[in-house]
Amino acid sequence: MIPESFVQELLARVDIVDVVERYVPLRKAGANYSACCPFHSEKTPSFTVSPSKQFYHCFGCGAHGSAIGFLMQHAGIGFIEAVEDLASSVGLQVPQEERNAEIRAKKAPLTEPMARAARFYRDQLKTSSKAVEYLKGRGLSGEIAARFGLGYAPDGWQGLQQVFPDYNDAALVECGLVIVNEQGRRYDRFRDRVMFPILDQRGNVIGFGGRVIGQGEPKYLNSPETPLFEKGRELYGLSQARKAIQEQDTVLVVEGYMDVVGLAQSGVENVVATLGTAATDMNVQRLLKLASRVVFCFDRDEAGDRAAWRAMDVSLGHLADNKIVEILQMPGNQDPDEFIREHGREAFVEQTRNATRLSEFLLRELVKQTNPNTAEGRAALVHAAKPLLQKMSAPILRVQVTKELARRAQVSQAEVEAQCGLKPLARSRYAPAQMKRRPVPSSVEHKLLEILLHKPEWAARLPLNLIDPELIESAALTAIADAIEHGELPSGGFGLMLEFFRGSPHEALIAEIVASMVDEVDPGALEAVFNDSIAHLRQVAISNEIKRLSDRAKGGLDPEERQRLTELLSQKRSAGPAAGSGSV
Ligand code: UTP
Ligand code: MN
Repeated sequence: MIPESFVQELLARVDIVDVVERYVPLRKAGANYSACCPFHSEKTPSFTVSPSKQFYHCFGCGAHGSAIGFLMQHAGIGFIEAVEDLASSVGLQVPQEERNAEIRAKKAPLTEPMARAARFYRDQLKTSSKAVEYLKGRGLSGEIAARFGLGYAPDGWQGLQQVFPDYNDAALVECGLVIVNEQGRRYDRFRDRVMFPILDQRGNVIGFGGRVIGQGEPKYLNSPETPLFEKGRELYGLSQARKAIQEQDTVLVVEGYMDVVGLAQSGVENVVATLGTAATDMNVQRLLKLASRVVFCFDRDEAGDRAAWRAMDVSLGHLADNKIVEILQMPGNQDPDEFIREHGREAFVEQTRNATRLSEFLLRELVKQTNPNTAEGRAALVHAAKPLLQKMSAPILRVQVTKELARRAQVSQAEVEAQCGLKPLARSRYAPAQMKRRPVPSSVEHKLLEILLHKPEWAARLPLNLIDPELIESAALTAIADAIEHGELPSGGFGLMLEFFRGSPHEALIAEIVASMVDEVDPGALEAVFNDSIAHLRQVAISNEIKRLSDRAKGGLDPEERQRLTELLSQKRSAGPAAGSGSV
């Protein structure tokens, strides 16, 4: 974890104009700079960089973000890498939190031996005709073998001795390359196997999978968990797939090493594999950051079906309404590698196009399990859906699924929501409300949001009870107020604001507003407009209440209500011009 305060300091230190100019020639255009957009092809420049906002925006393709975002998007690197890159460009050292520094110190001595072993296995492959024949027999070219760094661990107890003169080095045991038996004898973990190196984000070798050549048990032998290698966290093939994933904005997730390599051999490169385990929360979180569409591919057997269900279950908690998760159950008894070898690339891609949407998979499986042709079955359907709906983090999609479920169960949506303990959307605090989901630029709430982007600290003064809960702007205002209250939100420019809301439901709205505020603002005017806007909200609230009470007055008000009405009328008079008429 990079401390949030460091990100703030960094963004205050770098100038986005310098950062972008490293890659894209910029021309001054008024207060801003412009260029042809590096993220889509165009002839007239619609890409703008604003030095005052520390923000870039393309009016053509909608790309936008801070200096960090630009590096991530342009260089196709992750957040941490982008931060490290920027930090070194201004001579800052990225601080490691204590725990991280400790982990790093543990990892460092293991990285080199792993790299050395991988090189050794790769070299050995060249001299083993048996291993080469095996890989060729599986349809792999030398080029693909090189791309994935495939190797061969020779048949012998201490093959690694050839490249590790100090075979007794404890690091070899710690990184899982060497095993010590009960008698204290040391020997290579991997012997006579085809080796698949597993890389981390930076391309360091952190583990291996070794396949037996031909028949034998176990078919695959894997590195144990080490300080470098945590199985549930890693995805095999990500280093090689990153670019294709980015280009297609889709990532395919398969079950095996050979599926990744075999698909790449046939030209399908946006593929990663989980490491012998079902998809974990960490996997899914990572995957949804890599692309907006994630397709899990499973063999059509009992284990595959179980894994598919599990992938759905885990995905529910990480979904967002702008993300798509799909499940592909391979036809026949083939895995993706076997399928593409037999039917070719086109047929495989066609399969992925027809993958089942997560929502559809969920409903289909539940219906299969419960048989809603009877009253009991329909009851069981809702009962079984409860934990899944509760997990589901994409608010709008959840409503869709709830509706469909209600239809199949022959009950109302409200009944499902009540039975499953689901909060109706409009009231859930962080979800942009569903009623008026488009921003309303003429609303007071919109104006207030614009002002808060300049002055987030003013959020503490917002009367949150008076804003219109159905506006998407209100959800963002509430989120800002909440962050300020918890001391989480930095002030100091739009770039910071954007980084803060990265990945949240408010990201798009905030980016849109930032991008629309091209003009510089007068700080004095801001305060005045802010106060006016709040006064306006209060006026509207008072007028509404007066109207309600007056409407009811025909039927007679009780003394308390009459008292309140008098109060309101006097408040309204003293507060100045009639409510509802002033624009801000
Ligand atoms: P599979 O048994 O489906 O093998 O294991 P596969 O991917 O089709 O491999 P090939 O085509 O026969 O070579 C899928 C994944 O499960 C893990 C590995 O990660 C493997 O890629 N696995 C499987 C093991 O870790 N150990 C095993 O013994 C078997
Ligand atoms: Mn296979």
